[in-house]
Amino acid sequence: MFDYQMHSRILVWMETAAEELRRSHQRDLKIEEKKNAADLVTEMDKATETFFVQKIREHYPEHQIIGEEGINDAPVTDVSGTVWVIDPIDGTLNFVKQKKNFGIMLAIFEDGLPKAGYIYDVTSHDLYYGIVGVGVFRNHQILEPFKIQTISEALIVGNIGMFATNRGNSLALLTQSLGARAYGAAALEIISVLKGEVAVYYSCGLQPWDFAAGWALCEALGFKATTPDNQTLNLLKRCPVVFGNPLVHAEALQLLKETKEIGEINENS
Ligand code: IPD
Ligand code: CA
Ligand code: CA
Repeated sequence: MFDYQMHSRILVWMETAAEELRRSHQRDLKIEEKKNAADLVTEMDKATETFFVQKIREHYPEHQIIGEEGINDAPVTDVSGTVWVIDPIDGTLNFVKQKKNFGIMLAIFEDGLPKAGYIYDVTSHDLYYGIVGVGVFRNHQILEPFKIQTISEALIVGNIGMFATNRGNSLALLTQSLGARAYGAAALEIISVLKGEVAVYYSCGLQPWDFAAGWALCEALGFKATTPDNQTLNLLKRCPVVFGNPLVHAEALQLLKETKEIGEINENS
């Protein structure tokens, strides 16, 4: 039985966190580089994660927490019980450079299986949540799964660097599709799959906080979220991921394992 009191609390926390993020754009951000100049962290990434961790600890002290910024100091080494997964700002580069096109992602897992996922497109004020066994909602309105039948009639989504270098045989997907789109934030890219704007999201390597909410949302909508070799995703590991409805997900997995000559790339790709 899903805990609707917990769900109500999460909705309030998401709204509070989103409002703080929107407000932070009125002042200068403290920006630090992580691995390189394109890998940034701001005080708002840390403050947002701290906010969620404090709320979770206050209400659910026995639950485990995985967060990108490592605010929770108890490392998670097994996925038993309830595990929260937090990406406080997904698309930090967009958050800094564009002040839009970023999201908050949060997911709840029980014994390694997704129960609920939340993605907030902060500047559009669009909150998506999915409860496994119930459905997916956009601003509390049920989202009807729009079934794209085949990749050749649709767009796909992923990141530009991956397609440019054919990482993970990604050009096999691109050439089969009408073209690729890239939003610079897994959060928004996953939403575009759920809405049926694109057939498939493909990434060659995402951290658990990048894929957990999307995995739960896919599960709640009857979509598939696996590795390209059809393995179950693992909350303790970085994984390549493919998200899509069952039809196009199966087609994508097949295309990704075929090492045939890359077809022509549509000029509008
Ligand atoms: C990144 C974004 C990006 C994806 C990277 C992620 P971050 O998340 O989702 O679209 O390609 O793999 O790390 O660092 O902005 O939370
Ligand atoms: Ca992040
Ligand atoms: Ca992320």
